[in-house]
Amino acid sequence: MQTMSHDHSKRAAAEAAFQHIRHGDYLGVGTGSTVAHLIDVLAEHKPYLKAVVATSNDTHKRLVAAGFEVATLNETGGLDRYIDGTDEINPDLQLIKGGGGALTREKIAASAADSFICMAEAAKCVDELGAFGVPIEVIDMARSTIARQLIKLGGRPTLRARTLTDNGHPILDVHGLELGDALAMEDSLNALPGVVTNGIFARHPADIAVIAHDDDVVETRR
Ligand code: A5P
Repeated sequence: MQTMSHDHSKRAAAEAAFQHIRHGDYLGVGTGSTVAHLIDVLAEHKPYLKAVVATSNDTHKRLVAAGFEVATLNETGGLDRYIDGTDEINPDLQLIKGGGGALTREKIAASAADSFICMAEAAKCVDELGAFGVPIEVIDMARSTIARQLIKLGGRPTLRARTLTDNGHPILDVHGLELGDALAMEDSLNALPGVVTNGIFARHPADIAVIAHDDDVVETRR
């Protein structure tokens, strides 16, 4: 059996996700290398979309280069579909996101969409979230008070080097948090003053996952 390369897996997941787009959609587009493949597929097929909303400056640039006019979520008011990659995905389609630093806009888009389609390679499937760590976008003033609270919660926070998000904030990457109840941890982290967004997507998990395995793409619905 021939195995797919990393890039082929991402492309295969992007092609499978593309099948979910409908004529006239308000489409939200996530961020990352898998999304870059999705934008290639969009550029090749040029579906009619009422509007496309980007979750990062990078995605915005890529969409414009691909010939799409990009709208804001304030203009569309909502999204029919949101398609994005992930860093981890569990069997309940809960996610860890933010490896690329776009977690805040990604979570806003996920919360605004009627349907969230997540693309992943099989290597990102986990039984329990957490090995990747949890990215947390924070207000700089609160960086060290939040870090101390995270240590009390059992975490080991590190400041992501040379990184500010598109919103101008630093990111703490936290390992060691107990994520057996991902929703409870997502809510606890949100309650810390100065947290902008944390990368646990349990309150807004994916509705559909398209997972690229070695020789095929498997789709799962929540
Ligand atoms: C961006 O902030 C992230 O949430 C990405 O969606 C995630 O890191 C997946 O990226 P890749 O598609 O590059 O693996």
